[in-house]
Amino acid sequence: MNKIKGVILAGGLGKRLEPLTRITNKHLLPVFCKPMIYYPIQTLVQAGIKDILIVTGGEMAGEFLRLLGNGAEFGLRHINYTYQRGEGGIADALKLAEHFAAGSKIVVVLGDNLIGASIAPYVAKFAKQKKGARVLLKQVNNPGRFGVVEFRGQRVVSIEEKPRKPKSNFIVTGIYMYDRKVFEIIKRLVPSARGELEITDVNNAYLKRGELYFDKLNCWWTDCGTFDSLLAANNLVAKYPKEKKCIF
Ligand code: G1P
Repeated sequence: MNKIKGVILAGGLGKRLEPLTRITNKHLLPVFCKPMIYYPIQTLVQAGIKDILIVTGGEMAGEFLRLLGNGAEFGLRHINYTYQRGEGGIADALKLAEHFAAGSKIVVVLGDNLIGASIAPYVAKFAKQKKGARVLLKQVNNPGRFGVVEFRGQRVVSIEEKPRKPKSNFIVTGIYMYDRKVFEIIKRLVPSARGELEITDVNNAYLKRGELYFDKLNCWWTDCGTFDSLLAANNLVAKYPKEKKCIF
């Protein structure tokens, strides 16, 4: 089997963080002691994934190269980069990873997602999966801001993107594992009401095929898309044991 590759999505305009993001990319903002993008890279590397593509965009794309270079700080010899023109949504950014994936399974991490434990056990389960996708769920008290899961018993029956009336308080975090079919699925997507190709539609396509697997997280997890979650991320990292926080 081909080895699993990693994709970090670090584009977007970060509009909810204006004016912090007016002159820089959201994923370059600091989260306690490191730029935000360091955390998703660390998440992948720690899980043994060293073949990594960063998808970015906007005017600051060049700064990622200046900051990260070939990833020596993470023990990497090389980092791949690609550029998303415009603002087409998460699934649109992922489309750009097809050439890089070249038929391998991928673990996708949104560049603003921080997690307080290793994802290695979940990646190991995904590696054993014959086909399909695997998502990581987290119980939160403000589900309406995310992709929200509806359960029937222990089964996931639907995922709704930012619903007004969330059907549970379990949300799909921005750590997604996909087999090679993901790119065919993306090609069939149509833009949502907000004009974007939604990652939730990708996950629902796998669900319809009966090929969406999931794990529930017990550790802390947060995104950094809003002022409150960015502050929460800073505080979570600050409280995290020093030896884990400063692996480099
Ligand atoms: C995105 C996804 C959403 C997911 C979230 C996790 O939302 O669309 O389904 O729950 O990431 O961070 P966004 O941050 O783009 O609002």
